[in-house]
Amino acid sequence: MDSGLEDIVAAETVLSDVDGQNGRLIIRGWPVEMLAASMAFEDVAHLLWQGFFDDLPDVAELGARIGAAREEVFDLVADLPAGLDGVSYLRAGWALLPDDESIETAIRLAAAGPVLTAAAVRRRRGEGAIAPDRGLSQSTDFLRMLTGNQAGQAEARALDAYLVTVCDHGLNASTFAARVVASTRAGLVSAAVAGISALKGPLHGGAPGPVLDMIDAIGSPANAERWIEGALNRGDRLMGFGHRVYRVRDPRADALKAAVARLPGTTGRLEFAEHIEQAILGRLAAKYPKRRLETNVEFYTALLLEALGLPREAFTAVFACGRVLGWTAHAREQIGEGRLVRPRSVYRGPVPAAA
Ligand code: SDX
Repeated sequence: MDSGLEDIVAAETVLSDVDGQNGRLIIRGWPVEMLAASMAFEDVAHLLWQGFFDDLPDVAELGARIGAAREEVFDLVADLPAGLDGVSYLRAGWALLPDDESIETAIRLAAAGPVLTAAAVRRRRGEGAIAPDRGLSQSTDFLRMLTGNQAGQAEARALDAYLVTVCDHGLNASTFAARVVASTRAGLVSAAVAGISALKGPLHGGAPGPVLDMIDAIGSPANAERWIEGALNRGDRLMGFGHRVYRVRDPRADALKAAVARLPGTTGRLEFAEHIEQAILGRLAAKYPKRRLETNVEFYTALLLEALGLPREAFTAVFACGRVLGWTAHAREQIGEGRLVRPRSVYRGPVPAAA
């Protein structure tokens, strides 16, 4: 039976460490909570890309180049059909970019995330895409391209906290996919397209939208226990819970919960979500006493992105707007290894009859 490579070490990295036993995530030596509380998207792009591009500019210049690239890639939108979701826009739009291993390509991939995601959301609603403004930060411009209004500081800070929190997470499925593709020297665009294709799956990055579906389906605190029982009896996976590595609470859950709490008007929704979370944790502990199934990053991601006004079909695309920094950094790290990723398999099929 395929182990899913559980506990198999497939690479060494200087980028991040996921301590599943103690519930700690370190990114370039920083606890994720500190990054989420203090850094903007541009800061953590610089932090992750350090040492992987000879011509990496300083943070201020990098921010300016990302802003200019947002305006440059806006032309991609016209080539895409209206009505597709954010992941489809990212996968198709990124694929139109020149594919190489340069810092310019990494910058374009990072810049195109919000441009394509915001355009997908608006065009799906029958509204026109809004052109980027290079003079704004990535998160501020992302929210402006979504709503047409200047985002408040609290909202931009909350989006930064989210993008930073999810920027890198060891050798998760999408990052591993990106590294495999990068190891063939296919280029950073190909690596990012592989990453987002893996991230799309509900077992990986496709969970936050279904978390909101679950919260809405439960509807009221009184209905929580019954709904959860029914879902587990159907053999459903409760989205936002469990993790391949964390055997305790995902440290990102509380970082994101704090970001939601800082936004106006979220108190009631948070209290309801906390009630559901406690009911689920109790039920999973009873059903799987030997397997710690704790809250993962997706549960409070759903509440944060909802509070920022994003539609749930765009949640995975927004996840990719942060994780693209990790995919490109890991891709460059893998390229630096100079080794094609090529594991072996054990053949269990039929053998030719003896001659
Ligand atoms: C992310 O790897 C990363 O780092 C990923 C990520 C990142 O930043 O890149 O952290 C982001 O992907 C978070 C996970 C988002 N996905 C979900 O929330 C979907 C729900 N979670 C599960 O599907 C599950 O917990 C996984 C996929 C996340 C982990 O699955 P594993 O490690 O393969 O665990 P398992 O399938 O072996 O589960 C063990 C048991 C099983 O029961 P049995 O089949 O043995 O009877 O626990 C059950 C599972 O059915 N189980 C759950 C459950 N998670 C596991 N049952 C109900 N609800 C759940 N959420």
